[in-house]
Amino acid sequence: MDGNITLKGAADAPFYLPQGDECDIFTAASENDLPVLLKGPTGCGKTRFVAHMAARLGRPLYTVACHDDLSAADLIGRYLLKGGETIWVDGPLTRAVREGAICYLDEVVEARKDVTVVLHPLTDDRRFLPIDRTGEELEAAPGFMLVASYNPGYQNILKTLKPSTRQRFVALEFDFPSQEFEITVVARESGLSEDRVKPLVRLANKLRDLKGQDLEEGVSTRLVIYAATLIRQGMPVDRAILAAMIEPLSDDADVKRGLLDLTTAIFG
Ligand SMILES: Nc1ncnc2c1ncn2[C@@H]1O[C@H](COP(=O)(O)OP(=O)(O)O)[C@@H](O)[C@H]1O
Ligand SMILES: [Mg+2]
Repeated sequence: MDGNITLKGAADAPFYLPQGDECDIFTAASENDLPVLLKGPTGCGKTRFVAHMAARLGRPLYTVACHDDLSAADLIGRYLLKGGETIWVDGPLTRAVREGAICYLDEVVEARKDVTVVLHPLTDDRRFLPIDRTGEELEAAPGFMLVASYNPGYQNILKTLKPSTRQRFVALEFDFPSQEFEITVVARESGLSEDRVKPLVRLANKLRDLKGQDLEEGVSTRLVIYAATLIRQGMPVDRAILAAMIEPLSDDADVKRGLLDLTTAIFG
């Protein structure tokens, strides 16, 4: 399991439109060796924010998309057989700790329980990573920063961060941008004009109001960008909305019909 490494200069940092003081807090945390936790619904800009900040701070970034089979060994490393020899291969977390990079654990609650255990010593005053298999106790190089994200919206008691873990991070809450900001972001990312993006964002906000009633989760900014991209490409608006903003939200025919009615009310 490899993390993707990205190293970019501040000049070509991926576009990110700040919604508040999140860039300042992230910068201050990085200057003071504090780990950061990003909380918020899926598709609202967390991953983009980290990529942007890493580039701005000129720091290498190892991103690990966590899943329910991800173990501590996937992050730390393991012995591999190569040409009849057993050699130790660092995982992405170990590499970040050695190199003083940013390690971003996306959707950390998805990972297995043993993962959170290895994160604790890295958030202590003396930041270190115990590597049980080699007996090494690796001190984090200057510049190492631990960043994790999770979605507190899923009402699943098994998929939540324990307070003992949560309380080791500076936490930033993310949410979908205000309409005005979202129009800017969607237009910029899709290339569709702001005038044509406006009703899509209005629809997205109507759909978000249904969260908790008919929908488990509101439509993400990512999906609004998909719809706008399809429209810019020449697809009819109703087709694009169905494919990018309605089908991904629900499998229930009645619910989908309700969402289509909302769409008609906005687009006529
Ligand atoms: N504030 C923002 N600035 C720029 N792009 C954004 C912003 N918020 C969302 N996006 C766009 O939405 C997409 C999804 O965001 P992402 O960071 O992948 O979400 P998350 O990690 O929260 O699931 C991004 O690829 C980007 O195009
Ligand atoms: Mg993400």
